[in-house]
Amino acid sequence: MKFFIDTADLNEIRELVTTGLLDGVTTNPSLIAKAGGDFIETIAEICRIVPGDVSAEVAALDFPTMLREGQRLAKIANNVVVKVPLTVDGLDACKALTSEGIKVNVTLCFSAVQAILAAKVGATYISPFVGRLDDIGADGMHLVGEIIEIYANYPSFTTEVLVASIRHPIHLIEAAKMGAHVATIPPDVLRKLFDHPLTDKGLVTFSNDWEKTGQSILGPEDKKWSPLF
Ligand code: E4P
Repeated sequence: MKFFIDTADLNEIRELVTTGLLDGVTTNPSLIAKAGGDFIETIAEICRIVPGDVSAEVAALDFPTMLREGQRLAKIANNVVVKVPLTVDGLDACKALTSEGIKVNVTLCFSAVQAILAAKVGATYISPFVGRLDDIGADGMHLVGEIIEIYANYPSFTTEVLVASIRHPIHLIEAAKMGAHVATIPPDVLRKLFDHPLTDKGLVTFSNDWEKTGQSILGPEDKKWSPLF
């Protein structure tokens, strides 16, 4: 399962890339606005920090402008994936960009039929928004399950399921159990994945007991030559 991080905050990305867990990044206009920097420069910098796929979303709503914006975004770096909305014009843009060899992430997917359309026009990724469905009392993860089941019936569909709008670690566990290809995770949720109270508790006990032994794994020589010191 690939982990993407869902943010345009360069400091967050720089910090979390050191975990070695990041396979890519997703952004959207709201995240770009929140981060506050120049859009093109921000995407270029993210592409330098993370070698995997970096989604950058078009702003236009009409096909001809979306196409031009997508072509412009794709020129920023080899790892840019152009994000288009799941509309008639967005799917036209997906088809055209895909035919030019540009990767496309179709975003704002809220139904299985929308996901079928995205696969038919050759999207690289389909992004079902699970949290936003949960927010209105629907079942976001049920949609992910439906899409995975449908895509599995058609080997010619190469579109990967990118679970988006993740709100908590349970979304991630459910996505992994269903076999989703990618989860795009907000930084705060990614940090929560490491946590368990029993890990913290166990570590306190181990550290206290280790101290009682009065021993040290590293000798003076190790400390002298270790790059960590
Ligand atoms: C995905 O690509 C979107 O940027 C994102 O997951 C949307 O999440 P939100 O519903 O928390 O805004």
